[in-house]
Amino acid sequence: KRVAILISGGGSNMLRLVEDMQGDHPARPVLVASNDPAAAGLARAAAAGVPIAAVDHRGFPGDRAGFEAALLEPLLAARPDIICLAGFMRILTPDFVSRFAGRMLNIHPSLLPKYPGLHTHARAIEAGDAEAGVTVHEVTPELDAGPILGRARVPVLPGDTPEALAARVLAQEHRLYPAVLRRFAAGDRRPVCL
Ligand code: GRF
Repeated sequence: KRVAILISGGGSNMLRLVEDMQGDHPARPVLVASNDPAAAGLARAAAAGVPIAAVDHRGFPGDRAGFEAALLEPLLAARPDIICLAGFMRILTPDFVSRFAGRMLNIHPSLLPKYPGLHTHARAIEAGDAEAGVTVHEVTPELDAGPILGRARVPVLPGDTPEALAARVLAQEHRLYPAVLRRFAAGDRRPVCL
């Protein structure tokens, strides 16, 4: 299976996926693309030998469709079977998502359906939750709402700051996403629970 990964920043999740695919794996990375040409993850992907592309969303102010059309060019040229959103911070239109229905994954740093959207760690702390975590799900037109493919839980500790909780969750993201992609690429859609 051919996997394209979309990032917006450091790409730590992308890197764990790429590294896991270097072993015996049903998939291999064919492209890492970003909406930010300055995304540090692009250099990390290139250093790992993965082709990269960048389409600056700031070049399409108020034109989401135009940005997505530009992004589709390198993306479709890579002929991906699976798209992984990994720290990708742009909301995709239903038209874009529908092109990859059933084969686009996203990782979201909360135990969905709790806390879709942003600032998930601060919200969990604010709510006094004893647990937080991460979810990998299939991407559907509704934001952060598709079928769940994996989840991992972490404790919220007394005195946790959002940064401390984010770091604890990120460590589990790095375990969960590779496990989910490995199973998904082998055609197995049973959820992974870590
Ligand atoms: C992290 O906050 C992670 O929780 C979320 O995206 C952010 C950046 O991840 N998935 P990455 O290091 O770019 O993969």
